[in-house]
Amino acid sequence: MVILGAGPAGLVLANLLLRSGIDCVVLERTGRDDVRNRARAGFLAANTVRILERNGLDEGLRRHGQEHGVCEFRTGDGRFRLDYRRLGRGEPHTVYPQHELVADLLARFLDAGGRIRFATEAVAVHDADGPTPSVTVREEDGRPGRWRARYVAACDGRHGAGRRSLPPGAVHHHRDHGVSWLGLLAEAPPSLDAVGYALHPRGFAGHMARSAEITRYYLQCAPGTRADAWSEERIWDELDLRMRATEYGPLLRGPVVRRTVVDLWSDVLEPLRHGSLFLVGDAAALISPSAAKGANLAVLEAEILAHALTRALAHGDPDALDGYSQQCLVHIWRAQEFSHWMIGLLHQTPDSEDAHRFREGLRHARIAALRTSATQQHWFAENYVGV
Ligand code: APR
Repeated sequence: MVILGAGPAGLVLANLLLRSGIDCVVLERTGRDDVRNRARAGFLAANTVRILERNGLDEGLRRHGQEHGVCEFRTGDGRFRLDYRRLGRGEPHTVYPQHELVADLLARFLDAGGRIRFATEAVAVHDADGPTPSVTVREEDGRPGRWRARYVAACDGRHGAGRRSLPPGAVHHHRDHGVSWLGLLAEAPPSLDAVGYALHPRGFAGHMARSAEITRYYLQCAPGTRADAWSEERIWDELDLRMRATEYGPLLRGPVVRRTVVDLWSDVLEPLRHGSLFLVGDAAALISPSAAKGANLAVLEAEILAHALTRALAHGDPDALDGYSQQCLVHIWRAQEFSHWMIGLLHQTPDSEDAHRFREGLRHARIAALRTSATQQHWFAENYVGV
């Protein structure tokens, strides 16, 4: 079994296969430290925590994870809070920085004797339509190489070799939401005891705790904005403005230690299986960060594939693999639908004047329903935390 990529998808899959006694090797383009230090998401759904717990992968999470269960929406009509931990299925998020989770998964896999080839870039997957697929790679010293296996799991993200090697006929659904975020990591304590969503005529602003010392902020910006375009002073002043700090209290400032511009994009590939090649995580579907679903879908899909591969390879039941794609697509499309709904709630999106006025009317109706309808609040909580 060859697994491409050592992110959440690849490392959960690798750990589960190794526990089932299935030989696998992970080919990872970057180095060990890059994998361990890549700050990405951090909001784990309750189901993700259950998956990690039942597979014995939750040690770090249990020690350092923080429960989060409240959202605060700030709008021109005032603010309101949703204690989503007490709504829907009554589930909180667990905040645990993704690079910590990946470091745990990496350590667990290597300690158990797992094999990872760092600085080994997969170039393409070959002969996936038969039982002897292979992966051509660029080794650390630049030499070409080739790895053969019975199956290949592409956990190498949106730009990886898995997507590049799909046969004709693979369907690619995609949507550019026309919105970009300036994603910021600040060395500053959280300013709210909640996930903050600020809806402002100047654009969306978001606040998500990462730890007691680190806070993630988002600022909607024009597509094409450079990450270094804004001074720190302008960033904090704009965050204060959009989060209505004069009404609700100043934000706790600190150095901005990491910046990225994220274009809110979504896509889904169908099917997720092509013969001996399986797509997992971002390689299977990219979801906008508006609802913090990406890493949770990656972990869910990795467990589904690990179970199917174990049945096929350890119990001689290849039919289990036939269900992988459809079983994951149901969850992917449900998450995409909610993420799309969130984008419509949080952002004024560029439209023609008429369409813009109509869309703004819809947006205000959504906000009012979320503020006043218990049914809508239960629906929100169930989808916000669910995967
Ligand atoms: N060959 C080998 N490794 C590769 C290649 C390649 N050609 N291309 C990418 N990779 C590696 C990357 O270096 C990275 O370590 O694949 C890994 C992909 O990891 P992620 O991008 O984290 O994707 P995934 O595991 O699917 O997790 C998806 O987690 O990163 C968060 O929220 C984010 O939605 C995303 C979710």
